[in-house]
Amino acid sequence: MHVLLVGSGGREHAIAWKLAQSEKVSTVSVAPGNVGISLEPKAQLVDIAANDIDALLHYALEQKVELTVVGPEVPLVDGIVDRFTEANLRILGPSAKAAQLEGSKSFAKAFMKRNQIPTASYEIFSDATQALDYLKTQTAPIVIKADGLAAGKGVVVAQTIEEANEAVSAMLADNAFGDAGSRVVIESFLSGEEASYIALVDGEHCLAFASSQDHKARDEGDQGPNTGGMGAYSPAPVLTQAVEQHVIKDIVEPTIKAMANEGAPFKGFLYVGLMINEHNQASVVEFNVRLGDPETQPLMMRLETDLIDLFNATIDGTLNNTQCNWLEGSAIGVVLAAGEYPASSSKGEAISGIDDAERIGCKVFHAGTAMHDDQLVTNGGRVLCVCARDTTIVAAKQKADKGCELVRWKNRHYRRDIAYRAVARINEA
Ligand code: AMP
Ligand code: GLY
Repeated sequence: MHVLLVGSGGREHAIAWKLAQSEKVSTVSVAPGNVGISLEPKAQLVDIAANDIDALLHYALEQKVELTVVGPEVPLVDGIVDRFTEANLRILGPSAKAAQLEGSKSFAKAFMKRNQIPTASYEIFSDATQALDYLKTQTAPIVIKADGLAAGKGVVVAQTIEEANEAVSAMLADNAFGDAGSRVVIESFLSGEEASYIALVDGEHCLAFASSQDHKARDEGDQGPNTGGMGAYSPAPVLTQAVEQHVIKDIVEPTIKAMANEGAPFKGFLYVGLMINEHNQASVVEFNVRLGDPETQPLMMRLETDLIDLFNATIDGTLNNTQCNWLEGSAIGVVLAAGEYPASSSKGEAISGIDDAERIGCKVFHAGTAMHDDQLVTNGGRVLCVCARDTTIVAAKQKADKGCELVRWKNRHYRRDIAYRAVARINEA
């Protein structure tokens, strides 16, 4: 089978690596992919940008692609699934209408409100003066979100009202996020522990993936600005069986049912970002309509089932007859980022030590790398994700920590505390 995978990050490297393990797959074409992906068996890079739907469609028809999988949100929100489906091509993902769950925070908030799905209370503003007046009546902490897509960076958890004022002014008056920030959601702060609940949904049924937890803040102890994610691990012990049952009954099933009732049946990966409070009550922090990055990297390290079987069942609407198996133990992925991430990014620094890390049992997925005169160099942002799997999260983390030390370039940044909550739970027990 010839599979087309759209995207170029660590998530896509992990998906390509896993797809290549399927006996059903002959070729994984990745548009545009990255250096690490090009080194995987069965993989080839296609020089088409992830957002260029016309060119992707043309390629899929011409090269007789049998299945297309989309990593990032932008082409989904822009309607790639609608276009491919109209052309009778098999593609995994939601329609543009269903992708609004991620594409517009105001859509997602209104959807949750009218369907009684637990989430933080909120107000929406497009006028800076009105938003600033509203903030005068509020107390911190409070959360300011750009309405549209901002690569995980359009959210400010303000610890003071001054900080909230600044975020609102940057988005509404100074256009810091362009169109994406021309409307803002101001929502109440939720306390608790976050977890990522990711499931495949076929319009009607859902099949849960293993739980995971991301670390969005740049610095250790969850300090510093929000990023796309600095590391993740699976499983996340905060998602106990009881919490998972509550999440399925009160969040996931009502979401699937309401999307179908509202004329936008959801197909593809539904990612529910959860906040779980001290009473084990879960609220939705965000919906994503795709796999998470970096959650996917540790998830793929643990997935036993053939991805092709899962993708086919999703497209064919047979997830109710499908099982998904996970390797026992835990997996972790630690992101190595350029020193200045997420503000700006240095590029072109020579990278060494990936082979050494893989020799001790890590798998290193690429995101922001490039080849320069036969030398692997950084290409900005999140550069690599060092992953390890072992019998416990403590052992997996030790292995990944060693791998991270071995992979080097000038001015790399990573968090040494990924999975600290799971490790603390083990130490407490
Ligand atoms: P989002 O892009 O909506 O997932 O927000 C990014 C991150 O900001 C989340 O992963 C949380 O860490 C934090 N966050 C967002 N909304 C809230 C909220 N209402 N309360 C507390 N933290 C939040
Ligand atoms: N890791 C968070 C995301 O992919 O949105």
